[in-house]
Amino acid sequence: MFSFLNKDQATGEVTERQLDEQNIPAHIAIIMDGNGRWAQQRHLPRIAGHKQGMNTVKTVAKAASHLGVKVLTLYAFSTENWKRPSTEVNYLMKLPVDFFGTFVPDLVKNNIRVKVMGYTDQLPAATQKAVRDAIADTADCTGMVLNFALNYGGRAELVTATQQLAAQVQAGQLAPTDITADMLGQQLMTGDLAELADPDLLIRTSGEERLSNFMLWQVAYSEFVFMQEHWPDFDQATLEQAIYTYQQRHRRFGGLNPATDTTKN
Ligand code: IPE
Ligand code: IPE
Ligand code: MG
Repeated sequence: MFSFLNKDQATGEVTERQLDEQNIPAHIAIIMDGNGRWAQQRHLPRIAGHKQGMNTVKTVAKAASHLGVKVLTLYAFSTENWKRPSTEVNYLMKLPVDFFGTFVPDLVKNNIRVKVMGYTDQLPAATQKAVRDAIADTADCTGMVLNFALNYGGRAELVTATQQLAAQVQAGQLAPTDITADMLGQQLMTGDLAELADPDLLIRTSGEERLSNFMLWQVAYSEFVFMQEHWPDFDQATLEQAIYTYQQRHRRFGGLNPATDTTKN
């Protein structure tokens, strides 16, 4: 049992709670939101929020790994974030260089392997190199997978997967009616995660309750937990609260949960 201090989101009341070690979500995905608002509240430029947010990534990656999470997917840059002012986009593109430049030794120490999903070929050369190096430097790590969604979009991902399957059909390797959900899942950017591809828990910070084009296929049966904290304020305690909330849920996957649902008519 892990104990932690749970802060009730509605009342602010703090109580000591226990996390069930047997029920830690294997795959947690986080929409890291609110960097800009965090900075604005402090009369700082938005990029100051992104900088602080990078430190949060370090804290949360280590905390998740210690809790026994197997995959931590972090939404870092969407295919729609190019719409932002170029100064902000340029800063966001430099962040992976800073992040991996300073954090790879810690990742290796914690046996954390880096994976990146997204259209990385569209990133600046220095960003691509930082990503490639981090993947190579952590390739032998066998613990948690730290999966960055970088220039990622759920719809684009589904379009690409569809194109790949259509090409197989056109080559005569596949009949349209033979396409299965598993085959489509395999073509997605999470295909290599196999049985861990779908998040058990999806967290979004900063009070927004929408997906913003994140993992549209994979979250079909994820538990959603929305938190008020802006991402730079997120920490181990907030992560534990989200996991605690997850552990109070009853997942059914369309069936019945024998522990909670009566089967009597
Ligand atoms: C999340 O914070 C980080 C990225 C989208 C890159 P935002 O930058 O979206 O912060 P808000 O939502 O404007 O506060
Ligand atoms: C989603 O957040 C993208 C990331 C967290 C990287 P946004 O801040 O871009 O989403 P919207 O625009 O509020 O929907
Ligand atoms: Mg936002």
